[in-house]
Amino acid sequence: PEVALRSGNARPMPAVGMGTAAPTLVPEATKNAVLAAIEVGYRHFDTAYIYGTEKPLGDAVAEAVRRGLVASRQELFVTSKLWCTQCHPDLVLPALRQTLEACRNLQMEYLDLYLIHWPICIKPVPPSFPAKKEDAMPFDFEGVWLAMEECHRLGLAKAIGVSNFTTKHLDKVLAATTIPPAVNQVLLNPVWQQRTLRGYCAEKGIHVAAYSPLGGQNWGGTGNAVLESDVLAGIAKARGKTIAQVSLRWIYEQGVTSIAKSYNMERLKQNLEIFDWELTDEDRLKISQIPQKKVVKGTDLFSREGEFTSVDAADLDVE
Ligand code: A2P
Repeated sequence: PEVALRSGNARPMPAVGMGTAAPTLVPEATKNAVLAAIEVGYRHFDTAYIYGTEKPLGDAVAEAVRRGLVASRQELFVTSKLWCTQCHPDLVLPALRQTLEACRNLQMEYLDLYLIHWPICIKPVPPSFPAKKEDAMPFDFEGVWLAMEECHRLGLAKAIGVSNFTTKHLDKVLAATTIPPAVNQVLLNPVWQQRTLRGYCAEKGIHVAAYSPLGGQNWGGTGNAVLESDVLAGIAKARGKTIAQVSLRWIYEQGVTSIAKSYNMERLKQNLEIFDWELTDEDRLKISQIPQKKVVKGTDLFSREGEFTSVDAADLDVE
């Protein structure tokens, strides 16, 4: 299944995409995993400048075309993201060109979707983790978004959007601009359901995509509240599915696209097998009552001294 994006000439976005945020692995691991994913049927891939996986993704797609696994790059939906140090109006287009260059083996003259990675602006210094607080700058929402619109007009990004934006950040973009974001990609899973944000995005016609739909890769050392959930384990047992499948199915039923990361062939396959069965009303009720816990906080991008205020509690939508 696919969802149409409200963005002119973008191809529809397949409902489950493969994530490539695997910063500790060698590029070859990403290339092999993407090839395996294409073989088992993935047509939607998510990368970012900061992941360092744009090139292996491009290499994998070129090889997939060579091997005839797909006829051309046009069969794939590819997303990448603008890093915080590039969130300056005059650096957006050069950043996208650099991304397209990194993917050049893909002969990828365009991205299907280009996202602002965080509503955070950092001085144009080499990226570091955590960033120095004194390198944070006010975010020029209007200027950066107008530069994103230019990328779209030039045909380099078929659709443009944002990531990790709260309703407050979206308000600023919508107030200032003519092309609304097609997508907001956020942390979303049964343990962080984002009800308020989803309601807002539905009203504004912004499609929501979920990162860490399976609870993430132990971000911040907090374990995995999704895969360890007793409620989800109970539902999985009753349905004869895995916890991962229950989570992805629930997200799909919410009309949200999942960006699931697995570099393992069996799990890649398993994560696509969610379209021919349903949760029951009782399952949905139980999931709606799971205590909410946010595992990725934008504040972690910065050193601990002091609070960084442009990522705040506006989106703590535990209801
Ligand atoms: P692996 O690459 O070894 O499969 P998220 O998509 O929420 O970011 O989290 C993905 C994490 O969950 C990854 O560490 C991934 O590891 C693991 N994972 C992915 N698919 C499954 C699955 N079907 N069952 C269990 N763990 C999974």
